[in-house]
Amino acid sequence: MTVNPADTPSPVTAAVSDDANRVLIFDTTLRDGEQCPGATMTYEEKLEVADFLDAMGVDIIEAGFPIASEGDFEAVSAISKRVKRATVAGLARAGEKDIDRAGEAVRHAKRGRIHTFISTSPVHMKYKLQKTPEQVLEMVAAQCKRARTWVDDVEWSAEDATRTEHDFLCRCVETAIRNGATTINIPDTVGYTVPEEYFALIKMLRERVPNSDQAIFSTHCHNDLGLAVANSLAGVAAGARQIECTVNGIGERAGNAALEEVVMAMRTRHDVLAYTTGVESTMLARASKLVSTVTNFPVQYNKAIVGRNAFAHESGIHQDGMLKHTQTYEIMTPESVGVAKTSLVMGKHSGRNAFRSKLKELGYELGDNQLEDAFARFKALADRKKHVYDEDIEAIVDEGIAHMHDRMRVTSLMVVAGTRGPQQATLELDIDGKIHTVTSTGNGPVDATFNAIRMLVPHNAKLALYQVHAVTEGTDAQAEVSVRLEEEGRTVTGRGADTDTLVASAKAYVAAMNKLVVKRQKTAQAQQAG
Ligand code: KIV
Ligand code: ZN
Repeated sequence: MTVNPADTPSPVTAAVSDDANRVLIFDTTLRDGEQCPGATMTYEEKLEVADFLDAMGVDIIEAGFPIASEGDFEAVSAISKRVKRATVAGLARAGEKDIDRAGEAVRHAKRGRIHTFISTSPVHMKYKLQKTPEQVLEMVAAQCKRARTWVDDVEWSAEDATRTEHDFLCRCVETAIRNGATTINIPDTVGYTVPEEYFALIKMLRERVPNSDQAIFSTHCHNDLGLAVANSLAGVAAGARQIECTVNGIGERAGNAALEEVVMAMRTRHDVLAYTTGVESTMLARASKLVSTVTNFPVQYNKAIVGRNAFAHESGIHQDGMLKHTQTYEIMTPESVGVAKTSLVMGKHSGRNAFRSKLKELGYELGDNQLEDAFARFKALADRKKHVYDEDIEAIVDEGIAHMHDRMRVTSLMVVAGTRGPQQATLELDIDGKIHTVTSTGNGPVDATFNAIRMLVPHNAKLALYQVHAVTEGTDAQAEVSVRLEEEGRTVTGRGADTDTLVASAKAYVAAMNKLVVKRQKTAQAQQAG
């Protein structure tokens, strides 16, 4: 990247912030992130993620797209009511109905924002909207005006901005600001731009649009070419003072700019990216784990900042260097992002108090019931497993949180495996409080187990992914299994952990089924609403 902060125009945030180099972090995990196939979150999970983001110091939480479904509206309203510090945003297209629904949803927020968007590129206007540029300009004015009747904080986005003609984009931005937009977002909707080009685009808009000093410019970069973070930082170097991003970079297709990466890039390379955020970086690892758990989206091992290998040093030369001085191969400390060294925790004799303080150290605040539940599962694990590590505790607690509201639960599984088939599984499921049992055979123990689930919960979903990994080392390690199911365009993922790989597999499949049931209900609701 050849952008030089010294060449940049003066930042626009001066009007709203004393610190001209403060970059606002706009998290869209609950909206753009949730749009990615299989990442659906339940209502309760969304509230939990919102609480965490608020505590972590995110400036704006985009809580959902209120017109999209009753569920989205409910979640945005509830998040608006409970969030203490952050601004809560609801997304809306250009129509009055959309904007009013978003306005209703954020009405109770301490700080509410309507984020309204419309496509501005030739290809989107012609084929998607089927509108002329002049019609789109009128809609820009109308949508911003309408949003301002609900809130003072209005964000306007030019969808597909990076493929929009510059003269037209300038006219749209000017119109949006003139009609009340206070934040102007320039999305790279299809992940097409490159850093130098995006830098030039933001710079051009800030220089050419006459009223540009009356708004904060924002980046929103998708990762189709793996450039989302680089592009976002280039946008900031050009004067943008808001970055839209998601935890773990989840989002449509290849995802969005990863929150943890933009935050740590500005922190670690403050010498060349002299910007600050309000995010408490030591909470990043927990945020990643929470989002991965509730979306059932595993974090790739070599993911920057939060992947399990991000601070692992395998080669002899690197290990030797690290022992001599950590800075030989580490540009930031694991502690700075909240990664604690793997430590042996407790055994079967550990008490409730020790368990509670361990949870606190790992960043969990559980209510009494959740604590009791997690403690019982910890005891059961400690009976079966010699060494219980921090990762084991995290797996237990996360699983409890993720499955708290499930309608179906695995209560027992007996499997006959081995060289002489057919293999057989006897499965007991609790479905809405009633126990159901069935025995099934299959081509291997996993197949037999999944067939048993299919007999108790008939469905046509296709198994699109089955993946196993060990939570820690050793033959008694817990297995963490991910299962992805696809049914009529709906994709869901489920995850389960257990020292027995087959039990973990059954839990993961049933977790995915629980999500599928919720998704089917959402689709039915949306169809009813028309
Ligand atoms: O990628 C995009 O263009 C969006 C807009 C709705 C902001 O997500
Ligand atoms: Zn997007």
